[in-house]
Amino acid sequence: MAKVKLAPSILSADFACLGEQVELCLEEGCEFVHVDVMDGHFVPNISMGPMVVKSLKPLLAKYNAVMDVHLMITKPDNYLKEFAEAGADVITVHVESCGRLGDTVEMIRSHGVRPGITLNPDTKLEKILEVIPNVDLVLIMSVNPGFGGQKFVPATMKKIADVRKILDETESKAELEVDGGIKVSNVRSVVEAGASVVVAGSAIFSSGTTIEHNIAEIRKAVDI
Ligand code: DX5
Ligand code: ZN
Repeated sequence: MAKVKLAPSILSADFACLGEQVELCLEEGCEFVHVDVMDGHFVPNISMGPMVVKSLKPLLAKYNAVMDVHLMITKPDNYLKEFAEAGADVITVHVESCGRLGDTVEMIRSHGVRPGITLNPDTKLEKILEVIPNVDLVLIMSVNPGFGGQKFVPATMKKIADVRKILDETESKAELEVDGGIKVSNVRSVVEAGASVVVAGSAIFSSGTTIEHNIAEIRKAVDI
């Protein structure tokens, strides 16, 4: 199995000691840090913005980790520059919030950031097919966006496999990231379906055990 990258979602972190918790993840070798940006409009929850990205940037740079920004907001175009300047390495936008997905992808690239696209569990893959060749990351949502700690939607598994097939057939090097409800119990099947990056929030930050232990358990489950 190809080496899968781990992307802790800081949505479930303790914000009183965010830096320390992120550094623990980086010490444990996590390659990505996943930042969930929610506006209380596109999703019914409010989380964090560019200030958090900017504050964490030096830490991620020290470990050569990818600042992976997942925008769950309406009108993402209006905020791309700000997130780029704050230090995003990847910006992922939802097809449901983009009038012209292709234009938004180009705009992300024009800011020197790697573009990612994503879709909700109920949205058909067809909606993003045309743009897949132009992105560096395809994110498959395995829960309805808005909250950490939800249950993995099993129907997502087919979508992951379908995107893996498309990426392989087109010899695309884009990452295939899966986000939502990933636990020790299901991470292996997600990777076997074709994920190259797995997001884990509550499984890493709020499982009643240490962050180091949780990361080790996830890695053990996928032999990495
Ligand atoms: C959901 C977010 C996810 C979430 C993952 O809207 O995009 O990144 O924080 O959290 P868990 O791993 O707890 O489902
Ligand atoms: Zn996310």
